[in-house]
Amino acid sequence: MLENKKIGLFITGGIASYKMAEFTRQLIRKGAQVRVVMSQSAQEFITPLTLQILTKHHVLVDIFDEHDPTSVQHIELADWCDLAIVAPATANIFAKMANGLADDIVSSVLLAVHCPRLIVPAMNTNMYHNPATQRNLTQLAADGYTVMEPDTGFLAEGYVGKGRLPELERILEKAEMVLAQTELPQVLAGKKVLVTAGGTIERIDPVRYISNDSSGKMGYAMARAATWLGAQVQLVSTNKNLTLPLGIGVTYVESAKDMQTAVEAAFEGLDFVVKAAAVSDYRVANSHQEKMKKSDTGDERTIELVENPDILAGLGARKTHQTLIGFAAETQNLLEYASAKLEKKNADWIIANDVSQAGAGFNVDTNRVTILGKHNEKRALEQLSKLETALEVWKTITGLTKA
Ligand code: CTP
Repeated sequence: MLENKKIGLFITGGIASYKMAEFTRQLIRKGAQVRVVMSQSAQEFITPLTLQILTKHHVLVDIFDEHDPTSVQHIELADWCDLAIVAPATANIFAKMANGLADDIVSSVLLAVHCPRLIVPAMNTNMYHNPATQRNLTQLAADGYTVMEPDTGFLAEGYVGKGRLPELERILEKAEMVLAQTELPQVLAGKKVLVTAGGTIERIDPVRYISNDSSGKMGYAMARAATWLGAQVQLVSTNKNLTLPLGIGVTYVESAKDMQTAVEAAFEGLDFVVKAAAVSDYRVANSHQEKMKKSDTGDERTIELVENPDILAGLGARKTHQTLIGFAAETQNLLEYASAKLEKKNADWIIANDVSQAGAGFNVDTNRVTILGKHNEKRALEQLSKLETALEVWKTITGLTKA
């Protein structure tokens, strides 16, 4: 989403300013072009030369430093940006922005920008909670700015409070979300989406279980891409190790039965259910409450399995207005098996992937899928990142791209 995007980075004076060198590198690594504007105070923490070398552009630090007679620099920069990011944003810059002041280079350019604007506050916790700061932030949100919440944690002052700059990955994620929601048609606006993700865990005893190789990454990508198209998204996940996408609530579950309970409880109010989870077909018949001990006699042990409910098929039998999207991970006869599942489970779409291929399926960051619809739609995607795959899947399902 940041590929070839023009990002105006506005740095104001807080201790977190030093992190903007690394942030700039991360933006550039994602394919963005970056140009920087710095306040006088920001230059106390990090030099313009650092940012100039990283961005390969002159850094604007003074409103009257018009070294190019063919243009008015600060207006040219304001017109150039696809996205303006103010980070770290101090209480002082909010106050100016909320009141339309333009008395230095940062506030002047910001008053002229007409692209989406993302504000990332970072300051002392008491400054952040001050009613004046909060009033200004409320005003900026009402004026259409996207304002991130600072993190709570150890502050430079030596105590814990809310005011830390959010992690750089989170700022990047938010920037991508703002750009996506501006550029992509918001076809899922007002829609409620539930995504299941990860391999279910069927307990043998409290410390042992049966599971599978699913990482949950495709489900998380489906969830994230849905927010890009405007949906309200919740995850039902078995994987606590993956970072939750911004703005998405989660219910963590282990077993297929727990997953079924969570999904069925929410089902009525949903518009889309994405069953990206790899659900165990069987569970242990008599799982033990205590850790099983090794037998001294060398006897063989047998674990008896009973069939799990088929969650997707259950929803298929019950659905009224909901659209059901299943995944079929196969190692042979991909399209044949996947279409059979589409029909048998009464799903609306099945995303088929051959998990035996390199670059597709479990535990990798890419995928190669074929989208099958119940009205014989068929769209084969090339190998893409899981996020790109997810976006193409949503575009097909919502009719943005014809199958
Ligand atoms: N699924 C489900 N409940 C199950 C098994 C599968 O909801 N008990 C869902 C999966 O989340 C997926 C789809 O059904 O969206 C297909 O899952 P898959 O494991 O490929 O198919 P199975 O029906 O389990 O068939 P098989 O294991 O024989 O391939």
